Amino acid sequence: MKSAEIREAFLRFFEEQGHTRVASSSLIPGNDPTLLFTNAGMNQFKDCFLGQEKRAYTRAVSSQKCVRAGGKHNDLENVGYTARHHTFFEMLGNFSFGDYFKRDAITYAWTFLTSDKWLNLPKEKLWVTVYASDDEAYDIWTKEVGVPAERMVRIGDNKGAPYASDNFWTMGDTGPCGPCTEIFYDHGADIWGGPPGSPEEDGDRYIEIWNNVFMQFNRTADGVLHPLPAPSVDTGMGLERVSAVLQHVHSNYEIDLFQSLLSASAKAVGCTSDNQASLKVVADHIRSCGFLIADGVLPSNEGRGYVLRRIIRRACRHGNKLGAKGSFFYQIVGALVAEMGEAFPELKSQQAHIERVLKAEEEQFAKTLEQGLKILEQDLAELKGNVVPGDVVFKLYDTYGFPMDLTGDIARERSLTIDEEGFEREMEAQRVRARSASSFGLDYNSLVKVDVATEFTGYTAHSGSAKIVALYKGGQSVDVLSEGEEGVVVLDQTPFYAESGGQIGDCGFLQAGAARFDVRDTTKTGGAFLHHGVLDSGSLTVGSPVQAQVDADVRHATSLNHSATHLLHAALRQVLGEHVQQKGSLVDSQRLRFDFSHFEAIKPEQLKALEEIVNAEIRKNSEVETEETDIDTAKQKGAMALFGEKYGDSVRVLSMGDFSVELCGGIHANRTGDIGLLKIISEGGVASGVRRIEAVTGAAALAYLNAAEEQLKEAANLVKGSRDNLIDKLSAVLERNRLLEKQLEQLQAKAASAAGDDLSASAQDVKGVKVLAVRLDGQDGKALLALVDQLKNKLGRAVILLGSVHEEKVVLVAGVTKDLTGQLKAGDLMKQAAAAVGGKGGGRPDMAQGGGTDAGALDAALALTVPFVEQGI
Ligand code: SER
Repeated sequence: MKSAEIREAFLRFFEEQGHTRVASSSLIPGNDPTLLFTNAGMNQFKDCFLGQEKRAYTRAVSSQKCVRAGGKHNDLENVGYTARHHTFFEMLGNFSFGDYFKRDAITYAWTFLTSDKWLNLPKEKLWVTVYASDDEAYDIWTKEVGVPAERMVRIGDNKGAPYASDNFWTMGDTGPCGPCTEIFYDHGADIWGGPPGSPEEDGDRYIEIWNNVFMQFNRTADGVLHPLPAPSVDTGMGLERVSAVLQHVHSNYEIDLFQSLLSASAKAVGCTSDNQASLKVVADHIRSCGFLIADGVLPSNEGRGYVLRRIIRRACRHGNKLGAKGSFFYQIVGALVAEMGEAFPELKSQQAHIERVLKAEEEQFAKTLEQGLKILEQDLAELKGNVVPGDVVFKLYDTYGFPMDLTGDIARERSLTIDEEGFEREMEAQRVRARSASSFGLDYNSLVKVDVATEFTGYTAHSGSAKIVALYKGGQSVDVLSEGEEGVVVLDQTPFYAESGGQIGDCGFLQAGAARFDVRDTTKTGGAFLHHGVLDSGSLTVGSPVQAQVDADVRHATSLNHSATHLLHAALRQVLGEHVQQKGSLVDSQRLRFDFSHFEAIKPEQLKALEEIVNAEIRKNSEVETEETDIDTAKQKGAMALFGEKYGDSVRVLSMGDFSVELCGGIHANRTGDIGLLKIISEGGVASGVRRIEAVTGAAALAYLNAAEEQLKEAANLVKGSRDNLIDKLSAVLERNRLLEKQLEQLQAKAASAAGDDLSASAQDVKGVKVLAVRLDGQDGKALLALVDQLKNKLGRAVILLGSVHEEKVVLVAGVTKDLTGQLKAGDLMKQAAAAVGGKGGGRPDMAQGGGTDAGALDAALALTVPFVEQGI
């Protein structure tokens, strides 16, 4: 059975058991800041298990793309060295949200694996583990399903803490968790390895293919397990592993899906054997990198971007080991798309983007890879013992961009380990250095009690009454704020928008009788809105009422820029492609700034098209509509959501006609026509693969155009023209300028020639040589050169030195006629003369140039000519 057929059979089997087929979610967990990447099928259902989200179904089935290359579940270091570890894999899973529990979960799994209608695996090849104390599961397996006790293994807390066990699954440090029962496949005695729980369990003989988790608890940060509202089921079966079993191969890398990736990798790196660990690393890594980039991650130095960078760099290094020349990794994307683009269309649509990102990263790393490897070789040659010290690992990281695990990988190939703790110490020391180099203001976020919740009334109002619930001054909670003091006011409700989603916080004032607090900025921490500002007059007391008034003009201009940002985002995707993803945004009353992923400068005609599309949408004057709904409905409507952004159960969908649908909590125009006009004022790059556009709207756009028109008028005045004939006038001025320059050149040449005639008469005879040393202030080097040439022709056997003070500098040109260069060299004369004016000079024996700064010494320099000739002849 092909992998694609297995995937489909799994989904169908569970559909037949009443499960709803749910699409894979993004690798970037959209609603979970505790997760680095989607690492299991259950991630997208986390809130269903916790009882915080209700869906239309209680049974679901999916094939989920997963990355395990960082965070709690990290397989990166094993990849390439075992038959079954990957950075990217597909997890087939069935889920019950308070519906069925242990008995059904076990029976479904067994039926799908062993029934001749489905996978038809030999029962005697299957082993089962249960959590040591889970008698219920043990009994179902042995008494109801009939697995013999000798192929059952109980596994307890084998990882050094309560509930830390291979058979107790937790998503991360917090979240849903529970005991699990795992099904293993025995690949046969010819493969090394022992059954689960035995000392040889890490071998490749017994491979876990399916994990059934009985979700029962929610683990909170304090380590306490709270029972879930209803016992649930979360299962996961690695598609690659089960494919290996069904395709009768022992390694995942031998399955159909990997064949084309391995041969494409071999071709790209230019090696012949496709059974080397390094090639497997490359073939594995192209999947995680391709999928991560398709889901919006870009290589960077932190968070998800750094994990991606680590994987790419590890692939580069392994390709390099196999002899790859130049960039190779990006060349494998085509094979990945051919293999998986059907099941995952995002790969297809983003192919060019993925290739560009990988190529750029490879090129960047190539610059330091070779040098870093050399340094490492030197350090390893001098190494005493078998641990690479932390400072070496850090130096490679800091100077050559070697992620720690890359150095670890190289060390491991030589049976060495690295001093991870030493590396972390160096990293921490660097962080401290960085921190002390920057100074931070007061962090009110850490001060404000999280249980204060401010109700936001600002979507519909600019003003309103409220009660002060907390006051802060100089980082301390206070009861009273007095005149002249700077501080933070927290209200029970407020019309002030707090900075988020790129939109700046509102400004305005709070009034309580004679007291007036000037609000300069508004931010949010937890549920509390913080009004930052200065008390201009009076005093404020906790518990007292205030009247809040937002600066409506600033807010209005900001809202236009925010709405225009959405239009621009949608237009960018239309003009540049679907790979465009928001990478940052700043919206204030003056302008909008939008950062997005794109790999080259935007062409002028594309910028024009963007403006035209956005302005056409503005003229359509569509209503800006908002709707509160759940995230799935929002996504079905095609709402653009930000990767990595946390969205709650209820999200706000903002649409403008059928042109733009985005999740957004910001303040917007009522209709697109309110924006009036959008004018792009700049475009440029801010980081590798990230571009920035700045634009103005509304009154600011008009002001921008007016200023441009003023400049145009001024320019027209200068050439005594008008806006209409400015170009003609300017062209005429330029043409006239060109003609005048030409005439000037001709006149100068004439003048020089005439001067030459006069000058030749003043040459003096020194031992049969005509010697001429003259000062011609105002002439530049070019004119002097032409003159020396002429004089040489006129004078015959001659030595000439001309000097001039031009633009406050001394210019010198010396010439010697050819018949004399055997005895007298222009270069030698020049050296003396230039030195005399505090400069340098030189040239050929017959012609030399030089200069200096000491204009007062020019006459003395010229006077050197006669003695020079006298001595030399
Ligand atoms: N969440 C469990 C796992 O990842 C079962 O899907 O193993």
